[in-house]
Amino acid sequence: MNLYEAIYNRKSVRKYTSERIPEAVLEKIKAFAGKAAALNDQLRVEVQIIDCTRKKPDLKGLWKVEAPYYLLFYSEQGKGYERNAGYMLEQIVLYMAAKGIGSCYLGGSRMGVPLMDGMRRVMVVAFGYPEGKLYRDSPLAKRLPLSELCVFKEEAGEQIKTVLKAARLAPSAMNTQPWRFIVYSNRIYIFSRKPALSVKMLDGMREISMGIMMSHIMLAAEELWLELITSTDEQYEGKNYKSGEYVATVTLH
Ligand SMILES: Cc1cc2nc3c(=O)[nH]c(=O)nc-3n(C[C@H](O)[C@H](O)[C@H](O)COP(=O)(O)O)c2cc1C
Repeated sequence: MNLYEAIYNRKSVRKYTSERIPEAVLEKIKAFAGKAAALNDQLRVEVQIIDCTRKKPDLKGLWKVEAPYYLLFYSEQGKGYERNAGYMLEQIVLYMAAKGIGSCYLGGSRMGVPLMDGMRRVMVVAFGYPEGKLYRDSPLAKRLPLSELCVFKEEAGEQIKTVLKAARLAPSAMNTQPWRFIVYSNRIYIFSRKPALSVKMLDGMREISMGIMMSHIMLAAEELWLELITSTDEQYEGKNYKSGEYVATVTLH
């Protein structure tokens, strides 16, 4: 299974066995994290793995999940760092899924130090071998249909549709699925839907979710051997939208 295929199979895993993951596999996860693609490669990031197989996890916050391992993602707080974190983390999560390891993002949880070496802890991810199923068939994923997420301005070809299907399956905080798309034959304008009430922590989670979704677009484009150009369009960027925010334009060749 490659990362693209894992998009169609992964799900959040909230129950784990206490089985240890071999050291060599943990090393591979760290090595993969070190070379995951970034939206902004100027931002310094670091991944830490906490082994809780022999101790109780020191996990605080809401919607916690007990797991044998946790991955902490730290990032410098430059422009778009939360979106970048989601983009990189999802590749790691899909890599683990492809290797038989389950995981769950824990946006409401705190673990370890909040600040390290000028970087902020952006996310905690629980992981380990699942108790029960690791995979789920994509039709069973609770997601909005593309007809609700997209406005089709032109006839979309099979390739753009494939990219949108992968984007649609992205996990998001509380399954809010904040992404919306305006679709032309070879480009997609991406918007992020704002909730009626803006809460700072939830804004961060929305940004992380947008980054996760953008990694699915990137992986689908790679799978189809398409060239993907991500840009920002001045025409949309300056505008104020009542219910959403322009994020980026992706052009596919
Ligand atoms: C940024 C983010 C934060 C999340 N935080 C939590 C959390 O604190 N606790 C939890 O149990 N699940 C959390 N989740 C998992 C989502 O609830 C889950 O991805 C979503 O409901 C879709 O389900 P699926 O992952 O099984 O496809 C989070 C997901 C994301 C992307």
